[in-house]
Amino acid sequence: MTSANISGMARQFIVGVDAKDALSALKKVRKDGVAFTVDLLGEAVVSEQEAGEYFERYMDLFKIMSADQRKWKALGGGNGDLDWGHSPKINISIKPSALYSQMDPKSMALSIAKAKERLRPIFREAISTGSFVLLDMEHTTLKNLTLALYKSLLDEEEFKSYPYIGIVIQAYLKDSEQDLLDLIQWAKEKGQRITIRLVKGAYWDAEVILAKQKNWGIPVFTNKYETDANFEKLSSLLLENHQYVSYACASHNIRSIAYVMERAKELGVPEEYLEYQVLYGMAEPVRTALRKAGLKLRLYAPVGEMIPGMAYLVRRLLENTANESFLRQSFAEGTSKEYLLRNPLELLAENPTPESPAVTAPEYGDKDVFRNLSIYDWTIEQTRREFTGALQGLRAKLGAQVPLYIGGHEVKTGREIVSTNPNKPTEVIGSVSSAGQAEAEQAITAARIAFPAWRDIEPRQRAEYLFRAAEVARQRRAQLAALQVLEVGKNWSEADADVAEADQARQPSGPGGNLRSGTERA
Ligand code: FAD
Ligand code: 2OP
Repeated sequence: MTSANISGMARQFIVGVDAKDALSALKKVRKDGVAFTVDLLGEAVVSEQEAGEYFERYMDLFKIMSADQRKWKALGGGNGDLDWGHSPKINISIKPSALYSQMDPKSMALSIAKAKERLRPIFREAISTGSFVLLDMEHTTLKNLTLALYKSLLDEEEFKSYPYIGIVIQAYLKDSEQDLLDLIQWAKEKGQRITIRLVKGAYWDAEVILAKQKNWGIPVFTNKYETDANFEKLSSLLLENHQYVSYACASHNIRSIAYVMERAKELGVPEEYLEYQVLYGMAEPVRTALRKAGLKLRLYAPVGEMIPGMAYLVRRLLENTANESFLRQSFAEGTSKEYLLRNPLELLAENPTPESPAVTAPEYGDKDVFRNLSIYDWTIEQTRREFTGALQGLRAKLGAQVPLYIGGHEVKTGREIVSTNPNKPTEVIGSVSSAGQAEAEQAITAARIAFPAWRDIEPRQRAEYLFRAAEVARQRRAQLAALQVLEVGKNWSEADADVAEADQARQPSGPGGNLRSGTERA
C-alpha cells in the first residue's frame, strides 16, 4: 500500500523514466502551447561512475531530442527553430552536484575544474543543437560554487557569446540580492545576455536545520512574507535590467506571478525577455490559467527513476504540505483570496522582525547550556583563504626542535623524536627531545615541589587557567587545526572539528566568522 502510494506520487511528478519515454508526454505538452525544460533526476552523486553515467544520459538526451526537434512546430505560431521566435525548443536543466562526486567548497578550484570537464561537452552539445541549458541551484553549500562555476564557464572563449545558458537565484536567501546584483553587473560588463530563473528556493527546511545544527547564522529568511517580498524586489531588479538579463519567473503563487506581470507591463519589458515557469505535477489549475492568459510558459519536466528522484519528490511533498505554501493555502485550506493576494510588504510592515542573530551560542560560562565552538563554514571564501594561510604559515616554520620543559627550564637531551607528515613522509613537522629515566625523575621531583602551591589555589582560579588556555586555543584555532592536517593527516573539516570540540561556543569566531554570505569568483 505504502509502496503503491509512493509510486503514485512519483508518477504525478515525473514525466517519464527516460528520455524516450518522456518524449511523447513532452510533445503533448508542446501541443498544448507550453514549452519544457527537462531535468534528469539525480543529484549529489557519490561516485565518479555515477557522475559519468549521469553525464552520458544528458548527452543521450540531446541526441534523442535533437533528432526529433525539427518535427516540433514552433510555439507562438512561428515556423522556425525557435519557440515564440526567440527561444530554443530544447531546454535542459542540470544540477551541478550530479556532475562531480567530490564537489566540496573546501576544494573550490578542483570542484569547478572537475565539473567543467563534464559541463563543457554538454554546453558544446547545446550549442551544436541550438539548445538552452541552465544550471539549477541547490543547497547553500554549493551556492557560491555554482555561481563561480557558471561565470568561469561563460568566461571561456567558446561559450562567451552563446546567449542560451542560464542560472538560478533563490529569493529565500538573505544574500540573494547581492548575488543577483553581482550577476547583472557581470553580464553588463561582459556584454553577454544571460538568463536568470528566479525561484523562492526548494531547500528551506534543510537550510534551517543545518544552520541550527552547526550553530551558524540562518542563511534563509524565516518568515514566508520576507521571501515573498524579496521575490518581488528581485523580480523588479531583473525586469529593470532586461537589456542585459532575460527573466524566467518560476513560481506557482498567483500573487508573485501577478506582480511580475504588472511590473513588466509598467516597465515595458519586451516579451522575449520574460517567461514563466512551473513544475510538472504542481498546481495544474495555475498552469492552465497562465496558458489561457497567453503567457509564455515553460514546464519543468523531471525525467528518471523514482529512487534517484526521491530527494526531488520529498521537496515537492514538503512544498505541497507546508503550512505556509501558497498551494496548500489556496487549494487545501481555502484561505481567502484577499489574504493570499496581499502585498508581502504590508505583512512585513505589520510584523517587523528583528534580524536573526548570527549565532545563537550561549555566553561563555552559561551554566544551563553547553555548545561547542561552531565548526568552520567552508563556503565562506575568507575562511578558506585564512585556513590556507594558516597551513602556509605553519609550513614556513616546520622543522623546529622542541626541548623538554621541566621545572620551568628547557632541557635538551640530544636524542630527538622526529614527527613527519603521514601524507608526505619526507616532510618533517618538527622534533622533540626524547626523555629518558633521568628526565622522568626530574619531572616527578618538580611536580612534587609544585604540588602544595597548586593544591592550595582556589578551584575557581585553577579553572581560570584552563579558560585562559582555551582562549589562546580559540585565537589560534586555525593554526592548531592546520597542525593536525600536517602532523596527523586529518582532512580540513575533521581537524577543525577536533579543535572546535575542545572549546565552548562564545561568539562567532575564527576566519570569516560563521555568517554565510558573500559571493566570489573562481
Ligand atoms: P509559495 O507557496 O509562495 O512559496 C513557498 C516557498 O516560500 C518555499 O518553497 C520557500 O522557498 C519559501 N518559504 C516557505 N516557508 C518560509 C518561511 N517560513 N520563511 C521564509 N521563506 C519560506 N528551487 C531551487 O531551490 N532551485 C532550483 O533550481 C529550482 N528550480 C525550479 C524551477 C521551476 C520551473 C520551478 C517552478 C521551481 C523551481 N524551484 C527551484 C522550486 C522552487 O523553489 C519552489 O517551487 C518554490 O519555492 C515554491 O514557491 P512558490 O512561489 O511556487 O510558492
Ligand atoms: C528541485 O530539484 C525544482 O530544482 C528544483 O527541487
